[in-house]
Amino acid sequence: MPYSLKGRNVLVTAGSRGLGALVCEKFAAEGANVLINYHSNAEAAQQLADKLEKEYSVNCHIAQADTLVAAENDQLVHTTVEKLGGLDIIIANAGWTRFTRPGDIYDMSHDEWNKCWAANVMSHLQLMQTAQPIMSKNPDGGVYIATSSIAGITTGGSSMAYSVTKAAGLHLMKHFAFTFGPEIRVNAVLPGLLLTEWGMKFGDNIINALKERSTLRHETYLDDCADAYISLAKNTSATGQQLTVDAVFCPGGISSVGRSSRPLYKDSNALSLKANSCGKSVSVKLVGSKRPTGLKTGEQGIENDSQKLDIFGNIRISRTLNNIGEKNNERRK
Ligand SMILES: NC(=O)c1ccc[n+]([C@@H]2O[C@H](COP(=O)([O-])OP(=O)(O)OC[C@H]3O[C@@H](n4cnc5c(N)ncnc54)[C@H](OP(=O)(O)O)[C@@H]3O)[C@@H](O)[C@H]2O)c1
Repeated sequence: MPYSLKGRNVLVTAGSRGLGALVCEKFAAEGANVLINYHSNAEAAQQLADKLEKEYSVNCHIAQADTLVAAENDQLVHTTVEKLGGLDIIIANAGWTRFTRPGDIYDMSHDEWNKCWAANVMSHLQLMQTAQPIMSKNPDGGVYIATSSIAGITTGGSSMAYSVTKAAGLHLMKHFAFTFGPEIRVNAVLPGLLLTEWGMKFGDNIINALKERSTLRHETYLDDCADAYISLAKNTSATGQQLTVDAVFCPGGISSVGRSSRPLYKDSNALSLKANSCGKSVSVKLVGSKRPTGLKTGEQGIENDSQKLDIFGNIRISRTLNNIGEKNNERRK
């Protein structure tokens, strides 16, 4: 049975800007009412709500909440029911990270690890704990779609904690699907690089290098990614699934480093990468007649090079080149 989105009540966390804003618009275009969650920028959220109401003649409301805080996730669910008159679909899109030095397990504090855990795992638990009794009672049940990341299925991404907690979030999603079916369908979308404010933090060099390495030679288009949420919400035969939309940075979701030995940089001083299909053994080859300047000199230059290389998982490389192990030993002393 097709699940029509018309007249459904949808909560989108982190819905006022970036990927979430486009997802809100896609649901409104399908005739769904939307509760747009924002964190600090009420004006952007209100502008989006006004636009969607005007263009699509649906009900849109905004609600401030920090999804890192348990009680605020709980409150968001109640606010959605109160403002829209019910809750059918949750798009749990909020996430948290800090861009860290690849391969340096000391770069992120324990508090920051806990923030990743709160945003990328606990917020799902809290939203579901409050929403499940409500959605299970709907005549057509409910839909829960989490925004994960290809970092959740590789050793890449903005930080180790982000990658680990996005992976944990995926496992939680599968438990939800198993536990709350058949009433609630639970799935996840795994985007690759999106050029939102968040994605732009990777910087031009990395973004260009990633586009070059991707099979489709471009970033993950926001529009294509947002469409995946609509498709999953309508699909009554899929639950417990992870839908990767990544312009193929990560073929088969197995390895991000070893997808090809195409050099990341094309100049003669570049490094080329090789890895086996599980991304476990990584070798580094210097291309050209001389080593890149940074590799011989102090840690500073080497570190910069490895950061360019390492956002999608080649942590061993950064250790070899960076002597991060030595640095860590020094810190322990
Ligand atoms: N960008 C990428 O390359 C990429 C790749 C894979 C996965 N993802 C995932 O996609 C999701 C959305 O990312 P994005 O790129 O769209 O990010 P973004 O552009 O930074 O998202 C901005 C939105 O997040 C809201 N927000 C920020 N902190 C929040 C908090 N603590 N509680 C509630 N809302 C909060 C903002 O509200 P205010 O404006 O009010 O602060 C705004 O609506 C995340 O889960 C991320 O992990 C992103």
